[in-house]
Amino acid sequence: MGKILSISNQKGGVGKTTTSVNLASSLSYLGKKVLLVDVDHQANATTYMGINRANLIYTVADIFNETADIRDIIKRVESVNVDIIPARYELGNIENNLISHDNKDFILSNALEDIRDEYDFILIDCPPSL
Ligand SMILES: Nc1ncnc2c1ncn2[C@@H]1O[C@H](COP(=O)(O)OP(=O)(O)OP(=O)(O)O)[C@@H](O)[C@H]1O
Ligand SMILES: [Mg+2]
Repeated sequence: MGKILSISNQKGGVGKTTTSVNLASSLSYLGKKVLLVDVDHQANATTYMGINRANLIYTVADIFNETADIRDIIKRVESVNVDIIPARYELGNIENNLISHDNKDFILSNALEDIRDEYDFILIDCPPSL
């Protein structure tokens, strides 16, 4: 079962994304199977991984909106051999949808449980917020 690590800090610009991207690439280099989850609407981890956001059909917002299966959202980054769940601007609009959701605190963790066995590490690049 994969280890899930969140890279989080309330302060912005302190190196969360830099840590996430480099840790993901380094663990992959060491032979680990890695999934990077971008949970920041700034989508810097997605950009750093060379993903063209304009071409995405699904993003991490589809997990929170429950509009796609997690396996359909995952993209492969061949250059560093890392899988990524990308983010985009629409992640900034999900909070209103979640207000009335009974299980909102567990949507992401429940989705990750479905694929946890397929990875050694799942890294979550968080936004500058608690
Ligand atoms: N160890 C480091 N030494 C010097 N500069 C760094 C280091 N880590 C990150 N930086 C630089 O600091 C800036 C912010 O880094 P990064 O985007 O990783 O922060 P962040 O915490 O993810 O920001 P945000 O809260 O906006 O998501 C970037 O320009 C990055 O290149
Ligand atoms: Mg960041």
